[in-house]
Amino acid sequence: MARRRKLYEGKAKILYEGPKPGTLIQYFKDDATAFNAQKKGSISGKGVLNNLISERIFTGLETIGIPTHFIKRENMREQLIKKVEIIPLEVIVRNVVAGSMAKRLGIDEGMVLDRSIVELSYKNDDLGDPLVAPEHALSLGWVTEEELDQITGMALRVNDFMCGLFYGVGILLVDFKLEFGRYIDGDGEEVIILADEISPDTCRLWDLKTMEKLDKDRFRRDLGRVEEAYQEIARRLGVLPKGGLEVVK
Ligand code: TMP
Ligand code: ASP
Repeated sequence: MARRRKLYEGKAKILYEGPKPGTLIQYFKDDATAFNAQKKGSISGKGVLNNLISERIFTGLETIGIPTHFIKRENMREQLIKKVEIIPLEVIVRNVVAGSMAKRLGIDEGMVLDRSIVELSYKNDDLGDPLVAPEHALSLGWVTEEELDQITGMALRVNDFMCGLFYGVGILLVDFKLEFGRYIDGDGEEVIILADEISPDTCRLWDLKTMEKLDKDRFRRDLGRVEEAYQEIARRLGVLPKGGLEVVK
């Protein structure tokens, strides 16, 4: 079989040309990096689990009317997606203080916020994805005002959906990161849709009873039991493969 054309390789995923124009195949790797790739490692089975977890969340979001790039899962490591023009922003939603916000403002992790925060970072590895104000994104022409309104509104709807989804399985959604893209729909109109992935790589997820971290912070902070945390999230969402991961790793 002819090898597919690789279009882009990121830190956790590879994008291949899709079977039809306007589509891509998104392949999930086990590779893990942190602190802008200064720390490198591998989390066994992560690619499979993130593929399944992201599918579960994206299909759920579609049912409540959030347009996403997800078309269908192809196999244990790959999904068919719509090709978009990625907007160079990391859109972070926070419900509880943690991570870079805790550090930047000198606040202990765990403080529940009175209202959810939507933060923007400029997606640029060379600069370490710096935090920017909405005015930067507008004035530098990365998004229009209408697009930014849509992105913020969608991010908060995604937050509501995910808070409920995770609360239902005993998990506190602390924060997460989203990426959006521009897509030409069937009517030839340009629309903003949710892209990338949503997984324990891109969320902070704490057990509601024990406050144990069940996400990539276990890798970032060398907390151990990293694989187990990803499996636990997949298990609670009902997507952990029945026969275990050995066959599909
Ligand atoms: P932060 O507290 O380090 O800014 O991270 C906020 C959220 O964004 C957290 O859920 C982890 C996620 N995130 C990514 O998905 N990719 C990244 O490169 C970083 C730094 C954070
Ligand atoms: N993905 C990011 C990196 O390596 C960081 C992170 O998720 O913490 O650069």
